[in-house]
Amino acid sequence: MDWVFIKDVKNYDGKEVTLKGWVYNKRSSGKIWFLIMRDGTGIIQGVVLKNEVSEEVFHQEDKLTQESSIIVRGLIHADKRSPGGYEIVVRDIEVVQIAKDYPITLKEHGVEFLMDNRHLWLRSSKQWAVLRIRHTVYYAITDYLNQNGFYRFDSPLLTPNACEGTTTLFSVPYFELGNAYLSQSGQLYLEAGIMSLGRVYDFGPVFRAEKSKTRKHLTEFWMMDAEAAFVEHEQNLKIQEELIRFVINAVLEKNPDDLEILERDIDQLKKADAPFRRITHAEAIAFLRSKGSDIDAQSDLGAKDEVLLTENSAVPVFVEKWPKEIKAFYMKRDRENPNLVLGADLIAPEGFGEIIGGSQREDDYDLLYQRMVAENMPLDDYRWYLDLRKYGSVPHSGFGIGLERLVQWMSGTKHIREVIPFARTIYRLKP
Ligand code: 4AD
Ligand code: MG
Repeated sequence: MDWVFIKDVKNYDGKEVTLKGWVYNKRSSGKIWFLIMRDGTGIIQGVVLKNEVSEEVFHQEDKLTQESSIIVRGLIHADKRSPGGYEIVVRDIEVVQIAKDYPITLKEHGVEFLMDNRHLWLRSSKQWAVLRIRHTVYYAITDYLNQNGFYRFDSPLLTPNACEGTTTLFSVPYFELGNAYLSQSGQLYLEAGIMSLGRVYDFGPVFRAEKSKTRKHLTEFWMMDAEAAFVEHEQNLKIQEELIRFVINAVLEKNPDDLEILERDIDQLKKADAPFRRITHAEAIAFLRSKGSDIDAQSDLGAKDEVLLTENSAVPVFVEKWPKEIKAFYMKRDRENPNLVLGADLIAPEGFGEIIGGSQREDDYDLLYQRMVAENMPLDDYRWYLDLRKYGSVPHSGFGIGLERLVQWMSGTKHIREVIPFARTIYRLKP
């Protein structure tokens, strides 16, 4: 008898199959009982009829506890009333192991308890639905990049210096060389990569010693940095928009069941698949003030500001042309106004906040050098980075997507801790 995954039972209507998985739940009504099982690919209802199985199998009902591991054999048949549209009429149940006192029941639990038991919480339906969407988002991003001429270029995680400012660096003792720092973003290394390969990306964990205790911050998260030679600000935004719309379509196509489990309003995602909006930072400040905010003209946008800015927008909004003082040293000055830089943040709708940070990079040696001196940066450590402006410098741009932020938005998950298998925050390092 074929071992099949629950997601594939639709191809086995009227056939006998073997399913392997875990008990999710069970319900009883006299001469019949229902076994709800899951196997990582989906969930299915098994029907156990007194007259169709052995006495022993029928009485498994009393023994099978939630999360017990089982192998079930039976007949697949379509049933419209059943979740997923198919049922299995059980012939036999082989117990692999009986789970004793599984701590997470189907009732409500507090979040701290669930996070302490994250290794088990992962088995709950909303959790695996989110993680499957994460899988789709991850591969959609890489598919888009692979189809558009970007080479994967793995940047190092142990680095001698900062990419995104020194305030959020984690340091680790490094032999005789003093301290190494965990990478905040591979961007600077990718800038070396494009001078060799033209277009490159990396995709891996990055680290920020963020003290923020918000629903959008982790200390270890996954970032995709992309970088492209001869691409300027305008085209940079175009690539980002295409990529994000590609991801939206992939999730809608590949995860309808997961979106349903999560009760995600998919109309919101469909509406976001349209030309993105663009405003300058100055326009954003003016808009926020018109809404009663007293935000300073030289200010970064807070979570509340991001919500206000996207309140009436079904599509993400690029906020571009920022005051240079509040953005990173590597961003290129705007030719039209040297106080501004050609950076853009992409703000997701529905209150999900910033999902991308990117910019055109300063490619002029002197301007970059002056800015680094003004910021008191340790020039020796960045000599190699300045070199890139000495030997065949070219206009170039790039951006970084926070994978968890994007998955939060796609899946409609309020808190970032649920979109990564094991979240790391200032207050949590376990399990
Ligand atoms: O805006 P950020 O800091 O940009 C960079 O690091 C650039 N070097 C990227 C580049 O141009 N290649 O970070 C990029 C994205 C943010 O937009 C956000 O989505 C996410 O990373 N991010 C975080 N996600 C979770 N927890 C945190 N603490 C995050 N900090 C940034
Ligand atoms: Mg940013």
